[in-house]
Amino acid sequence: MNLSDTAPIQDSLAASAVRLSSIHSRDLLQDTARNDALKHALAGCHFDFSRQRVDQQALAELIRFATSIDLPAKRDAMLAGARINKSENREVLHTALRRGAAGVSKSINIEVAETKRRLYACVEAIRSCRWRGYTGKPIRDVVHIGIGGSHLGPELLVNALAHLPSAQKAPNIHFVANVDAQDISRALGGLSPETTLFIVVSKSFSTLETQVNANTARSWFLERTGNLDALGQHFLGVTTNLTAASEFGFSKENLFPLWDWVGGRFSLWSAVGLPIMLKIGCEAFDQLLDGARAADEHFAQSALDQNIPVLAALLATWNTSHLGCDSLAVLSYDQRLAVLPDYLQQLEMESNGKSVDINGDPIDYRTMQVLWGGCGTNGQHAYHQLLHQGTSKFAADFILVGEGDTGHSEHHQWLLANGIAQGQAMTLGHLPANEGEQHKRVQGNHPSTTVVLNSLGPEQIGCLLAIYEHKVFCQGVLWNINSFDQWGVELGKQLALPIFAQLSGEDASTQDPATRHLIDHCLGLNRAE
Ligand code: F6P
Repeated sequence: MNLSDTAPIQDSLAASAVRLSSIHSRDLLQDTARNDALKHALAGCHFDFSRQRVDQQALAELIRFATSIDLPAKRDAMLAGARINKSENREVLHTALRRGAAGVSKSINIEVAETKRRLYACVEAIRSCRWRGYTGKPIRDVVHIGIGGSHLGPELLVNALAHLPSAQKAPNIHFVANVDAQDISRALGGLSPETTLFIVVSKSFSTLETQVNANTARSWFLERTGNLDALGQHFLGVTTNLTAASEFGFSKENLFPLWDWVGGRFSLWSAVGLPIMLKIGCEAFDQLLDGARAADEHFAQSALDQNIPVLAALLATWNTSHLGCDSLAVLSYDQRLAVLPDYLQQLEMESNGKSVDINGDPIDYRTMQVLWGGCGTNGQHAYHQLLHQGTSKFAADFILVGEGDTGHSEHHQWLLANGIAQGQAMTLGHLPANEGEQHKRVQGNHPSTTVVLNSLGPEQIGCLLAIYEHKVFCQGVLWNINSFDQWGVELGKQLALPIFAQLSGEDASTQDPATRHLIDHCLGLNRAE
């Protein structure tokens, strides 16, 4: 399929965009049937797309577009384990991690179940203090070493779910991702090797940052204990590359497998989620998987016009391709979700930041816009000025949580009031009463989606994250790109290798002038120290 085959539908979508350009969102909201068609509920999450800039006609055209490019058949192929990641010749089966994925091969289900059994046994042993360090003391601190998909999901959920009763008896979890030594120094400061457990997570086991940090952690442990035999009680690994992990020194029983059919940014449901399991316990982790499975079933079974990730993807591509939105702001109105924009940045931008189609041919349309964001209400006193009165075109996702911190109902009511009001201002805008007050004009008409989680429980957040995963897949199909590779990150990794050597004094004369200047400048600074 080539997107040019869909030219007639694209033409009617373009005509709708022109038609809608003269209709303000405040007028679109007068159509109750339209508003109702844009609100959906699932697993304790309420998805409200009514502040998007579509009417029923545009919505119908978008659905027609999804049908014309066989989105349902492509969804079914992914869920059944087709090798849709063509550039790496891999299946895309993160849904198989969410218990009982129908249609997936028996051997995959057996491997997933067996790994989960081992993980849960390990988690129970650590949380119940049966797992002891080399001097016989229980584990108090866990240091998770990993980056990108081997970091962001665990950090997001460990923070988001720290309020659960089951999280109160967990060890402290610390995250180390950056190759900057400040990160690991901060994490290790004040920890005792006797009561610290390290989890090294790397799908490839070749990621530079994780290797450097894992080596530093190992040295830190050995310098303080002098006990090589104790490593087994203090280091666990998660990887697909069992050979490289064994060379690092992990024993078989301390390693948990990953599979190449799980993309890094889709992997929090696997052994990558070990710190989440340690934090919230196995029962709550099962609820997280239940929430994701509810999203999987909804995605697999719902009609396109009722299908939340399909609608989210159609509206996102509409905003990018037809309304010209340059960025997507993810605005979390809950401090516990502070890492959500970072997590979604990787999920959406690494997946869909592409400029060739599924066959490797260059494309001439826009794909994923820049995703950024932060926490409300703080952002209101920083960048919301630009959102309300700047010249950029953007879309926003508001994430609200109905049930807040039980002890502070006034805070929570203000938080919700602000989250709802900001979306209102971005939609309706404001026309000043007096001619001379144009500086107070807020144009509004910015498309936004509001998601309200009933409460911040494992099931709700599991559902929310799986909906975003499926949205990413659907956007990839709509743009005819491969959402599951990330070749663009390789060039920078290669370029850093000679520069690392040149910063130790190797000849840099073959570098381009700008790079040579920066290497010389940094060498000069280090010499001056
Ligand atoms: O460099 C990008 C990337 O490959 C991501 O896709 C991935 O999540 C991250 O690095 C970490 O990779 P790994 O788990 O193999 O260490």
